[in-house]
Amino acid sequence: MLPETIKWEDKKLTLLDQRLLPFELRRVVCESAEETARAIKEMVVRGAPAIGVAAAYGLALAAANGGDFDEAAKLLAASRPTAVNLFWAVERMKDLYHANKDKPNDEMCRVMEAEAVKIHNEDIEINRKIGFYGQSVLPRTGAALTHCNAGALATAGYGTALGVFRAAAEAGKEIKIFADETRPRLQGALLTSFELSSDGFDVTVITDSTAAFLMSRRKIDAVITGADRIAANGDAANKIGTYSLAIAARFHGVPFYVAAPLSTFDLKCASGADIPIEYRDGREVRELRGVKVMPEDTDVWNPSFDVTPRSLITGIITERGIIRAPLAENIKKTIEEDR
Ligand code: MRU
Repeated sequence: MLPETIKWEDKKLTLLDQRLLPFELRRVVCESAEETARAIKEMVVRGAPAIGVAAAYGLALAAANGGDFDEAAKLLAASRPTAVNLFWAVERMKDLYHANKDKPNDEMCRVMEAEAVKIHNEDIEINRKIGFYGQSVLPRTGAALTHCNAGALATAGYGTALGVFRAAAEAGKEIKIFADETRPRLQGALLTSFELSSDGFDVTVITDSTAAFLMSRRKIDAVITGADRIAANGDAANKIGTYSLAIAARFHGVPFYVAAPLSTFDLKCASGADIPIEYRDGREVRELRGVKVMPEDTDVWNPSFDVTPRSLITGIITERGIIRAPLAENIKKTIEEDR
């Protein structure tokens, strides 16, 4: 059984340290917003919904610890730039704080803690719904390809893209899963393979450059990935390499689905060009888990995310069903209906 990604215990946040998986199972304890922001920045916790949940707890801690709440919110919001779930959770907690800050301190802290727990529990429920709708795109027996880790480890539990595979298995379907290793941080090789094999799935890791050849040689029924931010027109940012995968899928006639909660949509971004992309240290590329794989002074370009244009997306699987073309119109409709 997979250990929980995020736990709230004795009024402390404990995070499964994803930098060490699958070789070591260790938890990092956060007792302040500052410690939580550091854990997000250093990728102890990663994956768009998971960092949103962690930030919510970070602000429950900020409220309990006293000090400048708005500064704590700013610090958390500055921890990673692309996943909009982080900003969504920070705004939700900030609004609640300002609506309750004049109440007796005990009561205000209780409200803040309860809201973070609610965001945590809601995420699991939402992922189950994503799984329910998403599994319908998979055949009774078949194969699918995923990228990075959009699983229980990237969320409060169950996962988005991997939640679709879980729901398919629960519906009695037999799906062989291929996982891209996902250079440079290897979330596919280290996390997705660990998560899926721990839960008894048939999972095979391929190098990122193998994906197109795989599609040409094996019947792949669908590519399903997560997302970090989806613009109003349907363009979707996700882990670097997702865009190439979508191009390969289109060339080979393989349906390409994005699985994400509505909190991943950012209607303030008209298109993918407006999505802020995180650029990370070149050392992530020059080294593979601490081992040098090129000369130290090699120039590298290391965007952590890319944007898949909506024209390559077959559908976006959400907790309110699968959004299909015309994406801009249907995204707007789905979000309005959800309010
Ligand atoms: O850099 P990471 O590991 O946080 O990137 C994670 C991804 O790109 C996931 O696919 C995305 O956040 C969706 S997680 C359900």
